Amino acid sequence: MKIIYAKDYDDMSKKAAALLAAVVTAKPDCVLGLATGSTPVGLYRELIRGYEEGRLDFSRVRTVNLDEYCGLTADSDQSYVYFMRENLFDHINIDPANTHIPNGANPDAAAECARYDALLDAMPADIQLLGIGNNGHIGFNEPADSFAVGTHQVMLTKSTIDANARFFAKPEDVPRSAYTMGIAGIMRAKKILLVANGVNKAEIIEKVATGPVCPQVPASVLRLHPDVTIVADSSALGCLQKSCPALISEE
Ligand code: PGA
Repeated sequence: MKIIYAKDYDDMSKKAAALLAAVVTAKPDCVLGLATGSTPVGLYRELIRGYEEGRLDFSRVRTVNLDEYCGLTADSDQSYVYFMRENLFDHINIDPANTHIPNGANPDAAAECARYDALLDAMPADIQLLGIGNNGHIGFNEPADSFAVGTHQVMLTKSTIDANARFFAKPEDVPRSAYTMGIAGIMRAKKILLVANGVNKAEIIEKVATGPVCPQVPASVLRLHPDVTIVADSSALGCLQKSCPALISEE
């Protein structure tokens, strides 16, 4: 696991975008595993800039996203499909038919999860982008007593539902569950790139880098992957910088 220091959010976004862009340049028909959340937005902005400046071509790129809320249709502005269009897909020359996200509108969880796993088998990611939750979750793989292997349906915790309520008109509109890629789906990517910023990620980054590999800290499993890079800003590296500065590299 390589941990790269970034000065701030902007620097993190630029350094991480450069790693992702290198994959697109080396392999124009690559498969990008993508993530939602606030952390990757700046990275996506950098990719859009690369496209606008003629440095990046997404015409043959394919994408697979980590997760999607259940019960939301693609046109809901809270869906991850909507997020990806708003923050990336609508601004680059990617073919929408080449972008894949679990279908939250499919009420048949077993069928939808099997469909998505078959898709991941057919097109494993060349690089998987991840954010990280304060509790170490990756995708919607929350702390648990065992690692969930395949794509599965997760019931959202009350705290997640409450935290999401502000985005919806009525509390009963907040999704109760989500489909998420499992740990195997994430770990089969050839490369993994995790981005983190802000002081509220500092403790979990230290745990992921130095604590035990265990399902109670889902992201710790990444230590078993041969090609993982974490790009984190100085605030997110605050704890690790004190306990184990040798693990942090400048480039
Ligand atoms: P964030 O979310 O990027 O909004 O912090 C990360 C995550 O929960 O995976």
